[in-house]
Amino acid sequence: MAGETAAFTAVVALLITAVASQTPPTAYTNHTVGGPAGWFFNATNNISTTNYSSWAASQTFNLGDFLIFRTNSNQTVIQTYNFTTFKSCSSDDASDNDTIHYYGGDSDFNKPLIIPVPLTIKGPNYFFSDVNDGVQCERGMAFEIQVNTGLGLPPSLNQPPPPPYATPPDSDSTQTPPLTIPQTKGNGGFKSVANLRRDFFFMAVMALLLLC
Ligand SMILES: *[C@@H]1O[C@H](CO)[C@@H](O)[C@H](O)[C@H]1NC(C)=O
Ligand SMILES: *[C@@H]1O[C@H](CO)[C@@H](O)[C@H](O)[C@H]1NC(C)=O
Ligand SMILES: *[C@@H]1O[C@H](CO)[C@@H](O)[C@H](O)[C@H]1NC(C)=O
Ligand SMILES: *[C@@H]1O[C@H](CO)[C@@H](O)[C@H](O)[C@H]1NC(C)=O
Ligand SMILES: *[C@@H]1O[C@H](CO)[C@@H](O)[C@H](O)[C@H]1NC(C)=O
Ligand SMILES: *[C@@H]1O[C@H](CO)[C@@H](O)[C@H](O)[C@H]1NC(C)=O
Ligand SMILES: *[C@@H]1O[C@H](CO)[C@@H](O)[C@H](O)[C@H]1NC(C)=O
Repeated sequence: MAGETAAFTAVVALLITAVASQTPPTAYTNHTVGGPAGWFFNATNNISTTNYSSWAASQTFNLGDFLIFRTNSNQTVIQTYNFTTFKSCSSDDASDNDTIHYYGGDSDFNKPLIIPVPLTIKGPNYFFSDVNDGVQCERGMAFEIQVNTGLGLPPSLNQPPPPPYATPPDSDSTQTPPLTIPQTKGNGGFKSVANLRRDFFFMAVMALLLLC
């Protein structure tokens, strides 16, 4: 009996493990780039604060996840889908359709920044800092990730642009010609039937006068 129970427990444990390892992700993940080190270049020893390729290799990235760059204005964040741009460590010749500048850099050093970057395209995504004519990028501020499908894009990142805003039709626009009716306080913009009759009478008189 004891042996059977132990075997049964082992089988159940194996099944749970097998199921767990095949379970697709159930939530979107925010990945803090570089972990506690953040996204920084160490100007003193002329190299990135941590090895971002090693960091990226330790993570699994899915559509709808965010990369969170905890950094300051001494670095930039360039995202590209173009390997040539990535390898060149420069976005000077990059096209807007495959390269995104999240932070263009300014003369204001040491300004703390948190830059969230949503992962919206499957496959290889490349990131680098283009500061200092590419030296930061050449010296470790660059990494590549593979974005998997995971749960797919959440609606918040996958919505077509809303249709252009159109003013809702007036409640009486079906009966009257499209006149501009001034909104009056009290009746919420709705004209009373008496007012409409009066307006119609007024317009008819005007039309008659014009014809004469
Ligand atoms: C991930 O980051 C995004 C962008 O900053 C934020 O909207 C979202 O709430 C974060 N999600 C989690 C689980 O922290
Ligand atoms: C830069 O690297 C040097 C030498 O490893 C270290 O002493 C210093 O604390 C680092 N600076 C920052 C800002 O991480
Ligand atoms: C940093 O390294 C680059 C080579 O990648 C070199 O051109 C540059 O002079 C170095 N800067 C410093 C401050 O050592
Ligand atoms: C960073 O780590 C990768 C392995 O993940 C290694 O190939 C590479 O040489 C490392 N870079 C530096 C500058 O140490
Ligand atoms: C940012 O850049 C300025 C100017 O090069 C430098 O003085 C400062 O130490 C840098 N800060 C960090 C955290 O690297
Ligand atoms: C990639 O970017 C380079 C410039 O960095 C450009 O010449 C090339 O046409 C781009 N490739 C694609 C497939 O758009
Ligand atoms: C971006 O534009 C270039 C031409 O400028 C084109 O060759 C390339 O296919 C485009 N890439 C995307 C992702 O639309």
